[in-house]
Amino acid sequence: MPNSVLRFNVASVRARLPGRRIDWFESLDSTMIEARRDMQPGRIVGAEEQTAGMGRHGRKWISKAGAGLYVSMVLAANPIPVVMLALGLATRQAIGCGDIRWPNDVLIEGKKCAGVLAQLEGDTIIAGVGINVSQMEFPEDLETPATSLLLEGVRISREDLLVALVESVDFYTRRNSDDILREFTNASSYVFGKRVRVEAGLEGVTCGLDPAGFLRVREDNGTETTVFTGGVRRLG
Ligand code: BTN
Repeated sequence: MPNSVLRFNVASVRARLPGRRIDWFESLDSTMIEARRDMQPGRIVGAEEQTAGMGRHGRKWISKAGAGLYVSMVLAANPIPVVMLALGLATRQAIGCGDIRWPNDVLIEGKKCAGVLAQLEGDTIIAGVGINVSQMEFPEDLETPATSLLLEGVRISREDLLVALVESVDFYTRRNSDDILREFTNASSYVFGKRVRVEAGLEGVTCGLDPAGFLRVREDNGTETTVFTGGVRRLG
């Protein structure tokens, strides 16, 4: 890690989250892979850097040393996709601002500053959260432009961010589905009236969530479709 980057103070986080197992690594291929090795519920795996950080749909998650928060949390399984929405709400709450692009990307001014990857392993969910904290630049060819909290004027240490994230994940993953759907609808500008392209190719205007948390999109010919997988991109 470059000398200019502050080392993560895992002892201070452990003191603020008593009883939580937090395994912190200097470098990992991916916290998702390490978390899968021992899926003790509540376990948190973090790394200063990831050499093979994973995004959704086989994309990479750029994980420069010390510049972001890269963690995976082991959770008891909840219904998918409501848990996906709960994780988006939790990540946004930890950051303290932002919009949520269905199902769980956190955007500030239309640029992505955090993403969530959830993997189901039997009865367990491994929830991976990546938050861009202090990066000053990103590749220009990203599908969605990226930003960091620092670039957006949000000053928060990675330690405070992890404590807030764990607390908010605990909070939201214990809420019932109706609460999650309501809160998500309030927090995300993507649920109603947003013109989007769905990764499967379809285009239309979003018109709410179904009871399971999937996104509804109305095409220009009036057909309503439920988006089960993939993401959406804003058009216009
Ligand atoms: C996305 O594509 O938006 C999801 C990004 C998830 C990145 C996080 S960083 C910590 C955890 N480990 C990984 O390899 N991926 C997730």
